[in-house]
Amino acid sequence: MTLVDLHCHILPGVDDGAKDLPMALGMARDAVAQGISHILLTPHHMDGEYTNHKVDVLRKTTAFQEALDAANIPLTVFPGQEVHLTGELLRALDDDDILFMDEGGKYLLLELPHSGIPEYTEDMIFELQARGITPVIAHPERNHGFQKEPDRLYDFVQSGCLTQLTSSSYLGVFGKNVETLTERIITSNEGFIFSSDAHNFKGRRFLMAEAFNKLSKEQDEKTAKLLNENAKAIINGDSVSRLEIKKVSETRKKHRFWPFMN
Ligand SMILES: [Fe+2]
Repeated sequence: MTLVDLHCHILPGVDDGAKDLPMALGMARDAVAQGISHILLTPHHMDGEYTNHKVDVLRKTTAFQEALDAANIPLTVFPGQEVHLTGELLRALDDDDILFMDEGGKYLLLELPHSGIPEYTEDMIFELQARGITPVIAHPERNHGFQKEPDRLYDFVQSGCLTQLTSSSYLGVFGKNVETLTERIITSNEGFIFSSDAHNFKGRRFLMAEAFNKLSKEQDEKTAKLLNENAKAIINGDSVSRLEIKKVSETRKKHRFWPFMN
């Protein structure tokens, strides 16, 4: 299965991801070894620390693709941004300073602050949807608001949002609670794609192949295929399959013991 990664901090020297070109090329080799063929470059934008304007990302993406080609690394990269939820977002859209996950401007990778879900989140999402944009909520499993009240995700997905789960969350890199929440978001059909959110070689690295292997084993092959197909649909601006969703509280925690048979 060829994998598509739609959230990755591999573009060199622009945020807290790859710090320079040699590191970015090293990460790119790791990605290829994982079976990843396409990466959406998503440097942080408007998160209070990093600003990566659309024009700069476009220019740097072209330069990075040339460097990949020169190094014979078979990876195709696309320009994107991890867009932070901020009151400035609508103005940035008006100023044409936002990159989407697809060229047609349908899907927006939206990062909420880790500390919680700001009060104006629903209003902003409504405004985005009124402009024909589908927000893809980045790693909800790592957000303290969804960790405290996982059922709030139901309302966001029900209202038309999609979600991006981070492969390393599913593998326990951020602890058991985040791993369990990721599993339950998948079981509730509220998880649409796996992405790496890779920043470096250790800790927050690719781990996409491992996540898909776990998914095939613990759910089934079909779910693994579906999540990867969804990623391809998003980058192409196509519709994403939506299964019937449940609230996270309605999913069962995984049994860790052999059940008694009647
Ligand atoms: Fe990120």
